Formats: sequence, C-alpha cells, structure tokens
Amino acid sequence: MNVSLIRKDFPILHQRIHGKSLIYLDSAATSQMPLSVIKAIEEYARNDNSNVHRAIHTLGERATAHYEGARAKVARFIGAPAPQQVIFVRNTTEAINLVAWSWGMNIHPGDELLLTPMEHHSNLIPWQQLARRRGAKLMFMPLRSDGTIDLQELPRLITKKTRLIAVTHVSNVLGVINPIQEIISAARQVGARVFVDGAQSVPHMPVDVKALDCDFLAFSGHKMCGPMGIGVLYGKADALEEMEPLMFGGEMISTVSLETADWKELPWRFEAGTPNVVGAVGLAAAIDYLTELGMDSIHAHEQQITRYAVRLLKRIPGVTIYGPEHPRGGLVTFNLGDIHPHDVATVLDQEGIAVRAGHHCCQPLMRWLDVPATVRASFYLYTTEAEIDALAHALEKTKEFFGHGIG
Ligand SMILES: Cc1ncc(COP(=O)(O)O)c(C=O)c1O
Repeated sequence: MNVSLIRKDFPILHQRIHGKSLIYLDSAATSQMPLSVIKAIEEYARNDNSNVHRAIHTLGERATAHYEGARAKVARFIGAPAPQQVIFVRNTTEAINLVAWSWGMNIHPGDELLLTPMEHHSNLIPWQQLARRRGAKLMFMPLRSDGTIDLQELPRLITKKTRLIAVTHVSNVLGVINPIQEIISAARQVGARVFVDGAQSVPHMPVDVKALDCDFLAFSGHKMCGPMGIGVLYGKADALEEMEPLMFGGEMISTVSLETADWKELPWRFEAGTPNVVGAVGLAAAIDYLTELGMDSIHAHEQQITRYAVRLLKRIPGVTIYGPEHPRGGLVTFNLGDIHPHDVATVLDQEGIAVRAGHHCCQPLMRWLDVPATVRASFYLYTTEAEIDALAHALEKTKEFFGHGIG
C-alpha cells in the first residue's frame, strides 16, 4: 500500500496543531474521511437531497436509489446474503440496543447471556439491562493474563441455558482479535445466538458474515472512513424475523387504521422515520474507498505498523503495554510509569499528536487490568512508521517534562 499517496486523500491530516504537524492516532475512536467521501456527501447535498421511498418525483427517486444502493453495497462488503438483512442505524451502540430491546423479548427468566470482560460499555450495558428486565443471568468468559479469552472454559460456560453470546470481534483496548469462529461453533452446539460487535474489526480487516455464521453484526460508519450518524446492524433473516420493531412511525408500516397497524417487510420495519440518507451515501463512498485499497492490504499495513509500534514503545523504560503482543488489531494501549494518562495525552497534544486517554468505555476491563485509565494510540490505513517514531520521541519528552527517572 502506498501510504504517502493515501495520505493525499485525507485533507484533515495536513494541518498543524500547536505549530506541529498533526499526527492523528485516534482512529479507533473516529477515523478520518477521504476526499471521495467528502465529495460524495457534497454532491448528494448539492444535487439529490430529498426524502426517500415516499416521493414519486425525480429527486426522491434518486435519493431512494442512493439509500438502497448503499444498503446493497454494505451487504456485499460484509458478505450478507441479501440487502434486506442490512438495517441502517446511527451507530454500533444503537444496533446493540435495538437487538437487546427487540430480540431481547425472546429471553426468559433463567436464560443466560454470555459476554466477555473486555466489552465496550455499548456491548455490556444493553445486555445488563436486558438481563434485569427479563430475569436472565449474565455470564462472562474468563481472560488469560495477556487479555485473550480462555477458550478452555467455553464448554463449561456455553450450555443449553445460553441464549445469546455477545462478544467484540476486536477489543478497543487490548487489541485482542477474538476467536469468533470457535465461539460461534460452540454456540451452534447449544442453539445460542451470537452477536458480534464489529466496531473495531469491520473497518480494519475482511469480515464475511456468511463465513463467520454470526447471527448479528454491528459496526459504525465513522470508524471506517465514513461520516458520523450512520451505522449498520446485520442480522440473519430468521434472527431478524424473531424481532418486533422498536420504533414506530412513518416508513415502517404496511397498513394503518385508527386502531392498529402492521409492518413493512425487512429491513424497513426497523427504520422508522426519515433515515440518514446522506450518511448512507458517505458510508457507501467509504466502502468503495476501502474496497479499492483492499481490506487484506489495509489489515496487513496495520499489522506491520502495530508490530513496529509495540517494538518501539517496549524499548522506552517505564512503558507498560496491555494486551497480547501479536496478533492484535491496529492499536496499542499503554501507560507511562505513574504519569496520569490524561497528562500524557495533554503533553502529546502539545506535540501535535492526538491519542486517547481514559477508560475507553471499558471500566470493568480497567478494573481487570488494575489501572484507573490508559493511553491508547490507534492506527489506520494512513498511519506511517514516521508517526510512530514521533510518538516514541514525544513519550521520551513527556517523561522529561514530568521529571521522572522512570526505569
Ligand atoms: C468495540 C466497540 N464497540 C462499540 C463501540 C461504540 O461505537 P459507537 O460509539 O459508534 O456506537 C466502540 C466505539 O469506540 C467500540 O470500540
């Protein structure tokens, strides 16, 4: 992959912050948009903006073609058998809440929901609430000391009582790439559904829902070169058929009387109200961009950058890196001696380097790591080794700034 050419596609990267060239290492939170996405959004807004489905006029037809075209593109991108299995939502969080509320009606007292301790709050709290509402029991897969799931425990944990397993494909803190395939095979033995949180995998590696055989997959456009406010819930057709709509109103109905209503077919019954058409246009352009580069190449580039970052950061006395060495997704989470992560991030910002500091919406995992917070540098297709060098150099400076003789 020609990263210097790729970087030309991202205008936002070419700016100075506090007099220094911006080094954006926060793509796991939100990635940046290439010109092709920005242009697609602008062109849609200039030429085609209108409401979908209801309109008979030309602009309405164009908007509908854009929106349904984007759905078909998403379906192809993740290997979904049909576009009807792709539901547009705001983000991963909304997709999880939709399933927890709607499919969650199939949960009964005594049923078990199996999660991991590394879940983002978005893939934890909706299930906590579901368990509380329906009298189900939350169970957690234990982690090994490097943060990977202890698969030996699965036969004990995945039983006839297990109705749903909700697990992140890639951890946004540890970078762990979870053995989703093994977990899904185990779930099949007992008839449990599997919800895969793909927020940190779909943007970074090839993900094929047919090959995985997952029941649900969720991801967000803003983490994969697309705009904010658009995300995807994929579901197996029979799993989606087990769900009642959560939101009611326009666009999702078939017939309505004063007393009652019935619903449109999939996927529209889950998309009440005017949808985020411009978001779908941006997401479709992002998928075109990623597909042209190739998800395999993007993954390989990130693997190389991450290995380089781990190697470099490990050499800095006082740096503690969390998670397995390899393989891992494109991020490194660490602490620098006893300097508070917020202080580290503030000093790095003065150097033009954008990283994330805090609990990363994973408070239970912070407790498991026995730290209040961490720093996270996360990478994407535009990240260079020179940027990692600058990060390492800035961390040395941070130590000096705080007068620490760490290590
Ligand atoms: C693993 C994981 N799941 C879920 C989310 C939530 O994504 P969103 O805020 O787009 O809903 C994130 C966001 O950081 C994440 O990293």
